[in-house]
Amino acid sequence: MSDDAIIDIRSLSLAYERGGQRNVILSNLDLSVARGEFLVIVGESGVGKSTLLRVLIGLARPSSGKVRLATRPGCRTPMALVFQDSRLLPWRKVVDNVAFGLEGSGLSRAERRARAEEMLALVGLAGLGSRWPHQLSGGQRQRVSLARALAVEPDVLLMDEPFSALDSFTREGLQDELQRVQAKTGKTVIFVTHDIDEAVTLADRVVVLAGSPGRVAADIRIDVARPRQRRDAALSEAAAHLRSELSRRSAEL
Ligand SMILES: Nc1ncnc2c1ncn2[C@@H]1O[C@H](COP(=O)(O)OP(=O)(O)OP(=O)(O)O)[C@@H](O)[C@H]1O
Ligand SMILES: [Mg+2]
Repeated sequence: MSDDAIIDIRSLSLAYERGGQRNVILSNLDLSVARGEFLVIVGESGVGKSTLLRVLIGLARPSSGKVRLATRPGCRTPMALVFQDSRLLPWRKVVDNVAFGLEGSGLSRAERRARAEEMLALVGLAGLGSRWPHQLSGGQRQRVSLARALAVEPDVLLMDEPFSALDSFTREGLQDELQRVQAKTGKTVIFVTHDIDEAVTLADRVVVLAGSPGRVAADIRIDVARPRQRRDAALSEAAAHLRSELSRRSAEL
């Protein structure tokens, strides 16, 4: 494991057993993620992207292989996961949704609320804590879900198509917000998307999962200066390169 790696996945395989049938989803997957890196995973539907995130957060058990984490000693919640839908509790005010993961952390109620308010400010929602989830737009709800994930101070933020249900204007706003938050917090992020432009806008590195069972078919560094401008020719070039890699890989399989 290299010194700066926060996650090191070696020869990971995962199979689901159902009705006596064994379905191999991931096979011999190797992937290392550097501390502070913004890694984007792309790949066809069903290839195992969400499954890989579930393994990382401990919701699914690999059949074989190793996942090594070099998270901070004493870190209570090494990872937090943000989903496509915000999954807020409708009966809790926004601030109490953000504070949810802090229950049992030893912080007092006032401290939990203060942390939640701070996280809401970080994602651009200062002052909205006393609303109910249904009083927010879809984009605002996704920001709350990001704030809730950040509140537990995870070393790694896992995001599974977090913006894909949003219109393109809101989505671009959230991409900018996420880049700003990541620059500020230095978090390691693993982000799954189907959107190539989103991938190159956000990523330090894009990994393509392909095949059945899924494996890493391409690993592409996006060397474009930050903060990134959407109309930067270097980004369009990176997107074109990624598109051609994707079609080449699917033609090979
Ligand atoms: N609990 C489960 N039991 C059995 N099979 C499962 C289970 N969860 C996922 N699968 C199967 O594993 C495969 C990978 O699913 P996964 O959700 O990881 O794909 P994905 O790459 O995230 O796809 P999408 O882009 O559509 O979200 C699929 O064929 C799916 O049907
Ligand atoms: Mg998925």
